[in-house]
Amino acid sequence: MSAILEGKPDKNLILVTGRAHPKLAADVAKQLGIDILETTAYDFANGEMYVRYTESVRGADVFVLQTHSTPVNKAIMEQLIMIDALKRASARSITAVCPMLGYSRQDKKHRGREPISCRLIFDLLATAGADRIMSVDLHAAQSQGFFDGPVDHLIAMPVLVDYVRDRLDLSNIAVVSPDAGRIRVAEQWAQRLGGGPLAFVHKTRDITRPNQAVSNRVVGDVAGKDCVLVDDLIDTAGTIAGACHVLKEAGAKSITVAATHGVLSGPAIERLKNCGAREIVLTDTVPIPESKRWDGLTVLSIAPLLASAIKEVFNDGSVAELFDTYPAHHGQGFLFA
Ligand code: R5P
Repeated sequence: MSAILEGKPDKNLILVTGRAHPKLAADVAKQLGIDILETTAYDFANGEMYVRYTESVRGADVFVLQTHSTPVNKAIMEQLIMIDALKRASARSITAVCPMLGYSRQDKKHRGREPISCRLIFDLLATAGADRIMSVDLHAAQSQGFFDGPVDHLIAMPVLVDYVRDRLDLSNIAVVSPDAGRIRVAEQWAQRLGGGPLAFVHKTRDITRPNQAVSNRVVGDVAGKDCVLVDDLIDTAGTIAGACHVLKEAGAKSITVAATHGVLSGPAIERLKNCGAREIVLTDTVPIPESKRWDGLTVLSIAPLLASAIKEVFNDGSVAELFDTYPAHHGQGFLFA
């Protein structure tokens, strides 16, 4: 194989990756049928990073894959200096592929004297030299407007829905949002699952403390239902565990949790194991090590979706149409990560 996918005359695709999630990058490269262009990357004793590409990138359409997983700030900085190196080496176009975009949650000011950190991340990527950004399930879709250029906002829903659909009695489901902010997403899930009823959890947050939320009660009828609880991100799992608790109190028959980004910090694993859900389904937008896996957790590969979107961008195709037709399993069975 080669590190270059030759396209129409004078168009070459190159995939490079930082060190945050090498397995995902390898899976995306496999789907694209190319090798990852080799990069030398190391840390100085004081924590500064160095990168250099081992081959020319001149004139190429380069996709810089780096998910902003823990340690988030290091992952972001590494991607920024990778983009800077590409810009200075005359890449034709640079797409920052951030399967999970760091700081996506901080997309607005709740109180005075706060930053809008999500905007800052987009600004940093633009300043480094990114022409285009690709990400999966931003916390708020409208954050795309923080970048003055194309943003391919991919949704993991087709991947997750296909898996969940085969495992539930669709005539008895209710799709549940763990807070009022994600009702629109839950609605899209319900449509894809054949139009089941919707419910949401009334969640209140202590905005002075991180990861502190209280799930108060369910709005909607979930008694006797097989609930599909959908979220973008599971961090400490306080939100999901709280939502499961109120769903059970409201008489839910079963709960399947589906979320895109399995950050799984601190008490998350214990909370998820004990939350009463029959299955937790995540994608691998961030690495999920074996030590954080158990029988009740399913991790689906996001690589086919990313690779399909990269191909569409490279070939000047349509990323939007991808979602109308996207078969998560490509006829080969589900790709687990
Ligand atoms: C919040 O609005 C997000 O969609 C997630 O529900 C939240 O960030 C998850 O955090 P945790 O798992 O720590 O409750």
